[in-house]
Amino acid sequence: MTDSLQCKVMSAEEAATLIQNGELIGVSGFTLAGYPKEVPKALAERGKALREAGVDFKVSLFSGASTGDECDGNLARAGILDWRMPYQSNPSLRKAINDGSVRYLDAHLGCMGPMVRSGALPHPTLAIIEAVAVTPDGRVYLSSSGGNSATYLALADKIILEINSLYGDAFLGFHDTFVPALAPFAKPIPILSAGDRVGEEFVRVDPSKIIAIVHTDRADSVNSFSEPDPTSKIIAGQILEFLHHERKKGRLPEGLPYQSGVGNVANAVLCAMANDPLQGCISLYTEVIQEAVFTLLEAEKLKGASGTALTFSTAAQKLFKTNVNSWKKRFVLRQQEVSNSPEVIRRLGIISMNTALECDIYGNVNSSHVSGMSIMNGIGGSADFARNCALGFFMTPSTAKNGAISAIVPLVSHVDHTDHDTMIFVTEQGLADLRGLDPITRAHAIIDHCAHPHYRHLLNESLNFSLRFSKGKHLPLSLEQVFDMHLRFMKTGNMAEDNFETFI
Ligand code: COA
Repeated sequence: MTDSLQCKVMSAEEAATLIQNGELIGVSGFTLAGYPKEVPKALAERGKALREAGVDFKVSLFSGASTGDECDGNLARAGILDWRMPYQSNPSLRKAINDGSVRYLDAHLGCMGPMVRSGALPHPTLAIIEAVAVTPDGRVYLSSSGGNSATYLALADKIILEINSLYGDAFLGFHDTFVPALAPFAKPIPILSAGDRVGEEFVRVDPSKIIAIVHTDRADSVNSFSEPDPTSKIIAGQILEFLHHERKKGRLPEGLPYQSGVGNVANAVLCAMANDPLQGCISLYTEVIQEAVFTLLEAEKLKGASGTALTFSTAAQKLFKTNVNSWKKRFVLRQQEVSNSPEVIRRLGIISMNTALECDIYGNVNSSHVSGMSIMNGIGGSADFARNCALGFFMTPSTAKNGAISAIVPLVSHVDHTDHDTMIFVTEQGLADLRGLDPITRAHAIIDHCAHPHYRHLLNESLNFSLRFSKGKHLPLSLEQVFDMHLRFMKTGNMAEDNFETFI
């Protein structure tokens, strides 16, 4: 590091003193990958001490998506977060949002960067970005995620860099930084296949904006994925069988790239692909690259993976570091508005697979709000993909909480994906292909194929009641009873009329 940068090196505690009350901070980080770790922790301690001394101190936080506990968790527990966008998955922050002490706006991840650049959302006053290297002329080499870092680095008045030495130069050459212009100057994003590179390996910044450089060697804190459970394996098996069937019928060309959502079920599907003798080599054009890619690599089934984050557990991070040079050519990390670009998703014909919290009998999906009112994580990029993909799956176990909740309900309590944007529902009970089905036929298909048998009579009763009493017969709905199952759960802790726990 040259003198011009060396003089900006300081401790995280010193850097935290440069942050003012009321700042809007844009951080790197996407699904627990590549987020700043040291400065947010020091900021939380400083902010907490100031508040305890009676001094007003709060900051707002924009990110790519969820950050680790060192960032979201510490800031939430310190009570210094005012406004948070666009996604989180931290238990402490979730609690603070759901008790009303943090203002949270859950937003489409692919839209965040352009909204900030257009001025629809305010510009961050400060960017805190994790990188692996910076040069005196202002080239910043990002770490394990792209997120919205290029936008925040370009627009923030001040920049704090956390240089993470854990990976050495492993991440050099991973990123493809391309930031599309806004309308009316926007041009096509020239990605014609999943692995295409169209930008630069670094983000260019004005070096005079860098006010601090903090060193770290702390790893992303990502929990290990558990071995796929029997339910996830059944769901995965059904998706693969359906894909083979569609190919046999000539309705699905070979070679379309896959997008795979967050969580254990999504991971299980990719693992199942690795082990399926009928499944050829695949490409991923996705948002989060999870560690199932290792299983695909070992099975020699991965052509390449494009995403905005490498979300690996500590064990997987070590494996990755050991093999990075031989695997590097197959990975591309992009800014999230490019990994989630509707234009590119449509052009490439992505097969999209996301997880739902609950689905209703007419085809609407809730991915984000428990009982319609408490945030789980957020919509993430699921709608960027679901709306624009060539073929889209929503998957979920048919019940949650030991059977006390049915994932199939008469009407979802919050809508993330409307019936216009959903194609295939899959649970461990079966699969319903909703394409071309009118609302009543959809309802029968979802109840018969996806609902747990113990809940089918309640769902049929609800449908029959609506068929009888609904004034409109196109999408029969009787508002007085569609939320009976949710209301029963809130009153008794169980959606079923009897104690379903004993059945599972
Ligand atoms: N009502 C209430 N709670 C429910 C529920 C329902 N209908 N369905 C599931 N849950 C609970 C589970 O019991 C579990 O709770 P626990 O953590 O206390 O055990 C929790 O939700 C997570 O469910 P799990 O089965 O472990 O699923 P997962 O890890 O695969 O996550 C989502 C599922 C929906 C929360 C997750 O996929 C998500 O946040 N999706 C939205 C964002 C997205 O799709 N991103 C990818 C786009 S590229």
